[in-house]
Amino acid sequence: MPKPVDILFTPFESGNLSVPNRIVMAPMTRSFSPGHVPNDDVVAYYRRRAEAGVGLILSEGVSPNATTATGTPNVPNIVFDEAKAGWGKVADAVTAAGGKMGLQIWHEGPFRNPAKTEHPEVPSWSASGFKMPDKTLWEPMNEAEIETAITEFVDAIVSAKELGFYCAEIHGAHSYLIDSFFWDKTNLRDDRWGGAWEGRTRMAVEIISRARAAVGADFPILIRLSQWKQQDFKALAAATPAELEKWLTPLAEAGVDAFHCSQRRFWEPTFEVGIEGVGGDAHLNFAGWAKKITGKPSISVGSVGLSGEFTAIYGPDGTSEPASLDGLVDRMQAGEFDLIAVGRALLQDAEWAEKIRTGRNDELMTFTKDALAALN
Ligand SMILES: Cc1cc2nc3c(=O)[nH]c(=O)nc-3n(C[C@H](O)[C@H](O)[C@H](O)COP(=O)(O)O)c2cc1C
Repeated sequence: MPKPVDILFTPFESGNLSVPNRIVMAPMTRSFSPGHVPNDDVVAYYRRRAEAGVGLILSEGVSPNATTATGTPNVPNIVFDEAKAGWGKVADAVTAAGGKMGLQIWHEGPFRNPAKTEHPEVPSWSASGFKMPDKTLWEPMNEAEIETAITEFVDAIVSAKELGFYCAEIHGAHSYLIDSFFWDKTNLRDDRWGGAWEGRTRMAVEIISRARAAVGADFPILIRLSQWKQQDFKALAAATPAELEKWLTPLAEAGVDAFHCSQRRFWEPTFEVGIEGVGGDAHLNFAGWAKKITGKPSISVGSVGLSGEFTAIYGPDGTSEPASLDGLVDRMQAGEFDLIAVGRALLQDAEWAEKIRTGRNDELMTFTKDALAALN
C-alpha cells in the first residue's frame, strides 16, 4: 500500500510565502513562443496545471533581454511589449483558475550558442568567458555588461510583479550566467566579482537587493541553485557545509524568500559522511541543507514520481515509469524541506497533482519524450 500523501496537500505559510499545497511545477523550457512571445497555447498550458491543483507554478525560463540572454527561436522573453502582454494573460489565467505562479528569469550566459540565435554576431556573456572550465570562448564580462545584466534581471522581476505574477524566480543554477559567477571553476576573476564567495555571490546579491527595493517587502523572490553543473554532474560548488553557508547567507540577507535547490534525484545526500561539519546530517539533500543553514523555506526537486532522471531525455530513451512517492512523504514529514517541485510528471500530465491527491494512481502516466513535442 502506498503511504498516505496528505502531507503533500497541506498548505504552507512562512514569511512571504503562502501556497495552498506543497506541489510546485518545476520551470521547464518548452520553446513554444514564436517570436519570443507566449501565445494562447502557452496560456492554456499553464492554466490547465492551475485548474488541476498545482500549488505553485513556475514558468519556463524567460529571457530578460533579447540578445545576450538567449535569442534561441521560440524561447519567450519578458522584454518585447507583446511578450509582456502574453505573460500578463498567463498570470491572469492562472490566477482566475485559483492558482499561483512565478516567472523564472533565465539568462543563458555561456550556454547561449550564438550560432543558434538571431544574433550570431553578439558574443555570449559569462564571468570569465568560459563555457567549459579553462576553455576560453569569449571575453570576460566587463563592468558595464555586469551592470546591464543586473539591471535587466531587476527589470524582469519588476515586470513579473506588475503583470500579476505571485512571485519571481532568479535562475542561478545549471551553469548559466549567474552560476558562472558562483562556481570557482568558471569564475577566475580577480576583481570584486570574483575570488572568494563574497565576490562570486555579488552579482546575485546585487540583483536580489535591488529587486527587493523595487518590488517592496511582500513580493516573494526565489532563487534556483544547483551544486551540479552541466559540465560536471558530480560537481560540488560548495564542498562543505561551511562553504555552503558562505554561498547562501549573503543571498538570504539580500532578501531571498526561498531557495529552490536543483538535484537530479531528490533523495541523494549532498555531502558524504565524514566531510567536515556534516556530522549527523549526512542524510540531508541540498534543499535540506539550505533550510538548515538559512532558516528560509526550501524547495527540492528531482525524479519525483518517476523511475529515471531528467537528463535521460537527451539520450536515446528518455522514458520513465511512474514511481512510488513513499520516500518523498517520509522526507516531507520529517520537515527536511518545505515544497517539492515536479518537472516531467507535470509536463506529461497536467492532472498529475490531482491524480495523486485523489489516489488515482492507476491513471498515472509514463513519461515519454513525445511529451516534449507539444504543449499538452
Ligand atoms: C524539458 C525540460 C526543460 C527544462 N527547462 C528548465 C528551465 O527552463 N529552467 C530550470 O531551472 N530548469 C529546467 N529544467 C529542469 C527542471 O526544472 C527539473 O529540475 C528537472 O526536470 C528535474 O525534475 P523532474 O525529475 O521532476 O523532471 C528543465 C527540464 C526539462 C525536462
